[in-house]
Amino acid sequence: MNVRGIGMNLIETKDLIKNFNTTEVLKGISITIKKGEFISIIGPSGSGKTTLLYVLSGLEDYSNGSVKLFNKEVNTYTDKEISKLRQRNIGFIFQFYNLIPNLTVYENVLLAVVLATSDHKNNIDQTLDYVGLLNYKNHYPSQLSGGMQQRVAIARCLINDPDIIFADEPTGNLDNKNSLVIMELFKRLNQELKKTIVLVTHNEEMIRFGTRYLKLTDGVVLADEQVIR
Ligand SMILES: Nc1ncnc2c1ncn2[C@@H]1O[C@H](COP(=O)(O)OP(=O)(O)O)[C@@H](O)[C@H]1O
Ligand SMILES: [Mg+2]
Repeated sequence: MNVRGIGMNLIETKDLIKNFNTTEVLKGISITIKKGEFISIIGPSGSGKTTLLYVLSGLEDYSNGSVKLFNKEVNTYTDKEISKLRQRNIGFIFQFYNLIPNLTVYENVLLAVVLATSDHKNNIDQTLDYVGLLNYKNHYPSQLSGGMQQRVAIARCLINDPDIIFADEPTGNLDNKNSLVIMELFKRLNQELKKTIVLVTHNEEMIRFGTRYLKLTDGVVLADEQVIR
């Protein structure tokens, strides 16, 4: 696990603008995300949270301004470099887990290792144990609760030891109890494994699990605050 470089800039945007056709969705966003932070992005539906997450991670291009990811302007990465980053340096967690239904828990995680052709793979059993699912490694996703499926997705994301984990409403499909389990897990990834986390949520109660939050409204950052713990 890479715990060095705490505090260095991983992402830096300046006057970031994103248009969809003629609509300006992100209206000049300047933020810096440092290694070791756990940032929640909150804001009403349609405020641009998902778009911002995708632009920060290089999944979506941008229209104007600057976005630096690992100290390099994102639009100067080649497609091949971006796809390598996604496999090796960046992890994604989505609201609906995106597991492959006809593969077991173990195979879902293994597939990420195979696809990444990475040289810093974590051990699959150890990673499943870390998220509390080692006893379920031969189960299929449909045999698991939503919260457990999300933990498989988190194991799949951890397996290539990413520097940054991006999560888009990871508890959006879960009841309160499972939501808290997942948020506690993200907090452990941040505190124990020193993962940098950028997590979108519409639930302001989830802010307390992180170290900082951004409040987005209509494509503008209205608040950027540290969380007092
Ligand atoms: N692919 C797209 N094409 C056109 N408009 C889009 C697209 N994706 C998002 N938008 C628009 O951008 C705005 C912000 O969307 P989004 O980032 O998904 O917000 P949030 O995640 O905060 O709900 C919305 O008005 C949405 O309709
Ligand atoms: Mg969204």
